Amino acid sequence: MLNSKIIATGSYLPQKIVTNSDLAKTVDTSNEWILERTGIEQRHIAAEDELTSDLAAEAAKRAIANSGLKPEEIDMIIVATTTPDLTFPATATTVQAKIGAKVAFAFDVQAVCSGFVFALTTADNFIKSGQVKNALVIGADKLSSIVDWTDRNTCVLFGDGAGAVVLQATEEKNRGIIASSLYSDGTLNDILKTSGGPASNQKSGFIEMAGKEVFKHAVDKMVKSVIATLAKAELTTKDIDLLVPHQANLRILNAVATRLELPEEKTIITVQKHANTSAASIPLALDQANSQKRIKDGDVVVLEALGGGLTWGSVVLKW
Ligand SMILES: CC(C)(COP(=O)(O)OP(=O)(O)OC[C@H]1O[C@@H](n2cnc3c(N)ncnc32)[C@H](O)[C@@H]1OP(=O)(O)O)[C@@H](O)C(=O)NCCC(=O)NCCS
Repeated sequence: MLNSKIIATGSYLPQKIVTNSDLAKTVDTSNEWILERTGIEQRHIAAEDELTSDLAAEAAKRAIANSGLKPEEIDMIIVATTTPDLTFPATATTVQAKIGAKVAFAFDVQAVCSGFVFALTTADNFIKSGQVKNALVIGADKLSSIVDWTDRNTCVLFGDGAGAVVLQATEEKNRGIIASSLYSDGTLNDILKTSGGPASNQKSGFIEMAGKEVFKHAVDKMVKSVIATLAKAELTTKDIDLLVPHQANLRILNAVATRLELPEEKTIITVQKHANTSAASIPLALDQANSQKRIKDGDVVVLEALGGGLTWGSVVLKW
């Protein structure tokens, strides 16, 4: 039986930083309100000509360099994104060309803020079936291009960035991805969505959100998902060494950690510096934890996310 193990991580954040006080100059908000309700202090915003594939390719290059592999040794590339460069082709194929991963097949996954968890689970299944040895899984989003910068209810919440992992087949037992769970409920797709898209008549495609509703579902569903995935792995919340949650709102992160009875130091928190970077938030946080040596060999690491769809899910892995 093959397992898949994360052998390297990498990430990229655009250079430009926008603080809460910067936003308060253009919309009716304040640093105090944003900090108190979300924990966010700042976000990185991509340049106009910097595309999602640019963010993704940079994170991918760093992850591949850290893995010691050559780009030609990557068999598959999955990019989780809600902000593809173009309606088609898939951003993953553009990334493939940009990093020179000549033999890989490449495609995108669209599960909004849960995208990385969905893409990682997809790659894990390709590896477990023996079809792929080395997979590059990227979460990348340029949400700044679908944010209505005049809407204070949403514009303060989001940022741009990318994170990537190299996943490799291993014959080691009880290693790498041990269990995962994915869920969707399309009857809830109205509470978090864009106002338009390629097949609709509306021109704009800005983010619309029923914040309180999303908040409630996020805490409840992510907690239940983590407990269910741990059970599949024959583990409990007491076995968690590190929780790497989707970074949407500090209050959501704290509520989830409290319900899982996790001490503060066991949750990675990057939302204050990155805001919500959608599919990029988990691999960005994972790369930060990895480069700060907060993950030790054999640690039980849990990833969890919820996003538009609604979609949600979690992954339990042994590092
Ligand atoms: C959006 C969110 C931060 C709002 O926090 P909240 O505590 O629910 O705040 P409310 O919606 O009750 O708004 C309270 C008031 O603040 C106002 N407000 C909203 N955004 C504001 C802002 N940026 N600055 C100042 N005031 C703001 C509202 O208009 C409202 O005013 P009112 O009472 O006069 O109507 C919170 O609901 C949230 O984080 N939800 C989840 C969002 C999310 O994570 N989405 C992505 C998931 S992947």
